Amino acid sequence: MNDKELVANHAAKQVQNGMLVGLGTGSTANYFIEALAKRRKEAGLQVTVSASSMVSTIKAQQLGLPLVSIEHLSKLDIYVDGADEVTPELTLLKGRGYDLVREKLMARAADQFLVLVDQSKMVAHIGEKFPIPVEVMPFAWNLVKRSLEELGGRGDLRPNAAKDGLAMTSHGSLVLDMTFDKNISSQELDAMLNSTPGVVEHGIFSRLTSVLMLAKNGDVEEYRP
Ligand code: A5P
Repeated sequence: MNDKELVANHAAKQVQNGMLVGLGTGSTANYFIEALAKRRKEAGLQVTVSASSMVSTIKAQQLGLPLVSIEHLSKLDIYVDGADEVTPELTLLKGRGYDLVREKLMARAADQFLVLVDQSKMVAHIGEKFPIPVEVMPFAWNLVKRSLEELGGRGDLRPNAAKDGLAMTSHGSLVLDMTFDKNISSQELDAMLNSTPGVVEHGIFSRLTSVLMLAKNGDVEEYRP
């Protein structure tokens, strides 16, 4: 069993009967969806799920998990997702995928946000390994890029997977992948991006993590803020 599967199985054991569970997106979230479906099938666990992306919705559907769409949610008991980077303060970088808006909405709506990672995701500061994804209204991309350059940012529009066009989020936004001076704290960056007109959402998740589940040497360690 690899580390992602290990931590996903650990998280699935935290789910209790009657819970409304938010499903994240990515390879770790996929293992969690599989583990949850297995608990439902084999142990009769009763859950309802809502997914942060179309791809996770389809996976949950295929595995027979009862789904409710995000439009009908007023809260979630738990939201479970991976991350691209995690700092010692449990600030996250997310958004290698294209579903930032739903992911952050669900993380905020949940009583508990469980973040599942292996050691490769731990960093000293946000932006150490990846640029910060900034989802922008299509017509605003150039003005947003300029605003972020004035704050010292560097970057460009994300290309699509085939590299013959631009990546689009599931809501039809474009994505600027931006790097900033590492002396700017993630809190400052978060505030700067939140107050830039034309930005729909960005990949810094501050003060949202309830529990970090970290797979380490074949075991899972839990950290709380
Ligand atoms: C989805 O948009 C992302 O935020 C993922 O949660 C993140 O990239 C982690 O992905 P893996 O679980 O595939 O490493």
